[in-house]
Amino acid sequence: MELSDVAVIGAGAMGAGIAQVAATAGHRVSLVDSVDGAAAAAVDRLGSSLERLVTQGRLTPDEADAAQARLTAARSVDELPACGLVIEAVPEDLSLKRKVFADLGATQPATTMLATNTSSIDIAAIAEAVIHPERVIGLHFFNPPPAMALVEVVHGANTSGRVLDAAVELMRTWGKTPVRCASTPGFIVNRVARPFYGEAQRMVEGGVADAATIDWILREKGGFPMGPLELTDFIGQDVNLAVGTSVWEQTGHDERYAPTEFQRRLVAAGRLGRKSGEGVYTYAADGARVGGDPDLDLAERLVGGPVATDPLARTLAMLVNEAVDLVDRGDASEEDVDLAMVLGVRYPRGPIEWGREIGFDVVAGQITELDRAFPGGRYRPSPALTNGSLR
Ligand SMILES: NC(=O)c1ccc[n+]([C@@H]2O[C@H](COP(=O)([O-])OP(=O)(O)OC[C@H]3O[C@@H](n4cnc5c(N)ncnc54)[C@H](O)[C@@H]3O)[C@@H](O)[C@H]2O)c1
Repeated sequence: MELSDVAVIGAGAMGAGIAQVAATAGHRVSLVDSVDGAAAAAVDRLGSSLERLVTQGRLTPDEADAAQARLTAARSVDELPACGLVIEAVPEDLSLKRKVFADLGATQPATTMLATNTSSIDIAAIAEAVIHPERVIGLHFFNPPPAMALVEVVHGANTSGRVLDAAVELMRTWGKTPVRCASTPGFIVNRVARPFYGEAQRMVEGGVADAATIDWILREKGGFPMGPLELTDFIGQDVNLAVGTSVWEQTGHDERYAPTEFQRRLVAAGRLGRKSGEGVYTYAADGARVGGDPDLDLAERLVGGPVATDPLARTLAMLVNEAVDLVDRGDASEEDVDLAMVLGVRYPRGPIEWGREIGFDVVAGQITELDRAFPGGRYRPSPALTNGSLR
């Protein structure tokens, strides 16, 4: 069967990677960028990226050549053929995205599926710019798109069930693992992960332990690939703060997502993490971390103690609470939440499965205890922990 043409708007980090995935899956792909020569340069770079896949034995030379031949550069949306799917990956700015969607609505057939790779903007707000908003959907790829299996398929208030099913099916044929999610602030991964960072920052601020000890506990006792504080240094404190602030603002400044003074101070001081040589930790010119040894005696004393000073139990309780709340609101299924956290941020286990093992009633008790220790609304047990909706 002839696969439909695909277009990708925005030839930056995400757009170029998504174009590679679509071309490798057999589609003719037009890559569009508003900066002169940017799309053509990205198509050239994709040639090297496809060659690397050949060297790694993941594509045959013929497959790489065929994928490369399917990629073309375009300067504007007006030059595109009629496509089955267009994926927008321009910068995270609602008015910019609306303009792109208005142009696509005016130039593409009414049946074209229009997708956005937004990480944080409400899908319905983008779809407003288009006639037939029921064909607008979020396809939230993770960075880098060719390597990351997870795609959050995000349905807005107007997205039709038919478009949602078709998008999920298409992502499967592209070799991705799609999860379904309503257009809720942070979608699945960026929402559920918030307390992973926030609790660690609050524990350092509150003097529970130093950063290295907290990171060590989450890594060595929890099985997370990186501790929360070293991970935010890796991501960039400014980038992580921006995601957290966006979720906080979109939830009407819910205390549960309030950014910490600890992180705000780091960003204000230009301590952005690895990229600036200093963040929570200090880095040498070659990128190696300087100092920051964990206090292993302290770690052993904290784990298994009261929840407010047990970095692992406190973090897990809040992750489980956030995950079950998403399911309770009907935004995503249990299976999809667990899959998204394992594939998107490499958690060692899905938080809901983890919560079931700890005991949802135990988690509810821990959060109530945290609320008593730190009143103010951040620590609220989800009704799903106690109402029996998740067994
Ligand atoms: N970088 C990530 O880790 C990541 C992960 C998931 C989702 N996203 C989302 O993907 C989108 C793109 O992010 P990115 O990191 O690839 O950005 P980027 O800045 O690397 O690339 C954006 C590209 O869009 C081009 N562009 C700007 N306006 C345009 C227009 N009107 N028409 C065509 N091209 C235009 C720019 O020239 C640039 O090449 C954002 O919505 C972002 O939130 C990013």
